Amino acid sequence: MADASKSCQLEQRSQVLNETTRSVTIDERKKTARKRWQMLAQVLKGSSTTELADSAVSVRRFQSYGLLSTEQNVEENSKEDSDGSSWFSYSCKDLPGFSMKIRHLGGAVSAERLNGFNNTGNVCVWPSEEVMTFYCMQHVGDFKSQQICELGGGMTCLAGIALGISSEAQHIVVSDGNEESVDNLEQIIERNDFGVTSVSARLLRWGATKMDESLRSRFDTVICADCLFFDDGREDLALMIFDLLKPGGQALIFAPSRNKTFHKFAELAEKTFQVTTESEYNAVVWNMHCKMLSEDSDIYDESLHFPIMMKLRKPTEPTESRDTTPESR
Ligand SMILES: C[S@@+](CC[C@H](N)C(=O)[O-])C[C@H]1O[C@@H](n2cnc3c(N)ncnc32)[C@H](O)[C@@H]1O
Repeated sequence: MADASKSCQLEQRSQVLNETTRSVTIDERKKTARKRWQMLAQVLKGSSTTELADSAVSVRRFQSYGLLSTEQNVEENSKEDSDGSSWFSYSCKDLPGFSMKIRHLGGAVSAERLNGFNNTGNVCVWPSEEVMTFYCMQHVGDFKSQQICELGGGMTCLAGIALGISSEAQHIVVSDGNEESVDNLEQIIERNDFGVTSVSARLLRWGATKMDESLRSRFDTVICADCLFFDDGREDLALMIFDLLKPGGQALIFAPSRNKTFHKFAELAEKTFQVTTESEYNAVVWNMHCKMLSEDSDIYDESLHFPIMMKLRKPTEPTESRDTTPESR
């Protein structure tokens, strides 16, 4: 993912997300906090992302397993206004003929973005989404004729879009809780050909959205990548997945351990779902992971980067359906 990784790197560097602070010492935490305040001051003064990336805030980071290839889509970019966003053509050497047009947001750091709804899905495509996409494409036959919903897919919903192009699913809803992500998803849908599959983008927020009755118990599969680390969101996410799935339906989740937040979600989900977790779910990913552990241990942290797979099965016997709005609980 060479080109896309560069733009990811710029944004990742300037955002200095929480994940970096979890595995460092107290001294390093203090330094990071100081840098964050410096960055915030720069943002409020109107600094560009380039200036921010060049500042002392920068850190070298792991960005992708290189499972997908990306190159700038010159034709699509020539039609764009210069708002900093870019179109990429994604392909995969293991999937001859597969290609999708994906728009990445420019991601300039602004006070609006810092103050608005969670922006982590507009920063880059995170490794869990990359791996989930690769995994889904390796099992594409399983999704034929299904109703699928991607939750928290960020600005690309890469896996949902890839399934839309290749799986012959009946319908796919790609979603996120961030409006800017959803606007971007609408543009991506317009520019790709999904054949027999219909694809739509929606703003879906666990914990805040009144469940649209047309979505309740509708989906065979819910997919979700790297959304388990929000401490105040895990219960709401589990409830939303439960309400979206048909009885017997399955959620496919990829996320790193991130300070055991993966395991906290699994524990919580066990109350309502049949839960299985797996680390060696794909030989290519596992080999890459082992290689990174041995060769790039300075930038690769298993707890932050390696996506573990979790499957949640909703029971087939009728269970009481619940509303996901906080007021209803
Ligand atoms: C780390 S990003 C992951 C994005 C994408 N799945 C990926 O891996 O590249 C977490 C995503 O969760 C979304 N999110 C956070 N809280 C949410 C909520 N309550 N409802 C819906 N989406 C939410 C954010 O907007 C963001 O896109």
